[in-house]
Amino acid sequence: MPEKPVLIAQISDLHIKSPGSLAYGRVDTAAALERCVAALNAFRPKPDFLVISGDLVDTPMAGEYQHLQRLLAPLALPYAGIPGNHDSRELMRAAFASQPYVFSSGPLNLRIEIGGLDLLLLDSSVPGKPHGELDAPTLQWLDATLADSRGKPALVFLHHPPFKTGIWHMDRQNLIDGAGLAAVIRRHPHIQRIATGHVHRAALSLFAGVATTICPAPNHAVDLDLAELREPSFKVEPPAFHLHSWFPGEGFGSVVTHQVPIGHFDGPHPFFGPDGKLL
Ligand SMILES: [Fe+2]
Repeated sequence: MPEKPVLIAQISDLHIKSPGSLAYGRVDTAAALERCVAALNAFRPKPDFLVISGDLVDTPMAGEYQHLQRLLAPLALPYAGIPGNHDSRELMRAAFASQPYVFSSGPLNLRIEIGGLDLLLLDSSVPGKPHGELDAPTLQWLDATLADSRGKPALVFLHHPPFKTGIWHMDRQNLIDGAGLAAVIRRHPHIQRIATGHVHRAALSLFAGVATTICPAPNHAVDLDLAELREPSFKVEPPAFHLHSWFPGEGFGSVVTHQVPIGHFDGPHPFFGPDGKLL
C-alpha cells in the first residue's frame, strides 16, 4: 500500500462581522462559515490540519474575533490563522493567545510541522493598508527556516497573491515587491506549493517556478471582471475550500491541490451496475 497522503485544508477570507451584521449589507458570512465548518468536519479522510489564510474578520473589532471563535468552536480539525488586510495583528494575538507565533511582536509568522511536511505561514499584512508586503525580518526568518528544513517538503502560505490576476482593483493591492520572496523561494527547491487568498476566487499561476494558488472563499467571490467594465464588485458564486494533498515519494514527493465545493450536491452515484458493467 502506498503511504497515506497528508491532507492540509485551506480556507480563506471569512470576513466575519459582529453577530447579525451582513458583509456589504448583503452577505451572511457567519452562515457561510458554518456551512464551511460542517463541510470540513464531514470530509473523509479527515484533513490533518487547516490553514486559514487571512481576512478572518471584516473591520476588525474584538467582538468580531469573539464571534469567529464561536463559529470555529465546532471545528474538529487543528488549525492556525494568519492575518489578511482586514485583520489586526494585536487583536489576533489576543484572540489566539496559544498560537506559537514566531515573533512576540510585529508580523504573525508561524512554522507548523505536520506528518513530514513543513507549513510556513507568513504575515503579509501591512497595518492600515489593503496591499501586502513581507518585511525584512519575515523574509530572513523564512530563508533561515527553509535552510533548516531542507530535508522536508514545505508549503508556504500567505494572504496576498504575489502575481497579477487581471482583476484591476485587486492587482493594485496584491503582494507588492514580490522580488524578495522570489529570491528566497528560488534558494529552496523543496517548496512544493505557495498558497494564498485575498481574491475570494480560485486561480493558479507560477511564482519563482513554484505552483501558486489562490483559495476561493466560503462566502462571496470578487467579480471576474477582466474587461474593467465595472466598479469593484462581488458575486455570490459557489463556495469552496482547498485541500492540498501531499503524497510522500521520491525526492520531496508531490502535492495536488483539490478544490472542494461546499454544499449539498446530487450523488455520489455508482458508475457500474451489480453486473460490473458501466451503467
Ligand atoms: Fe484580503
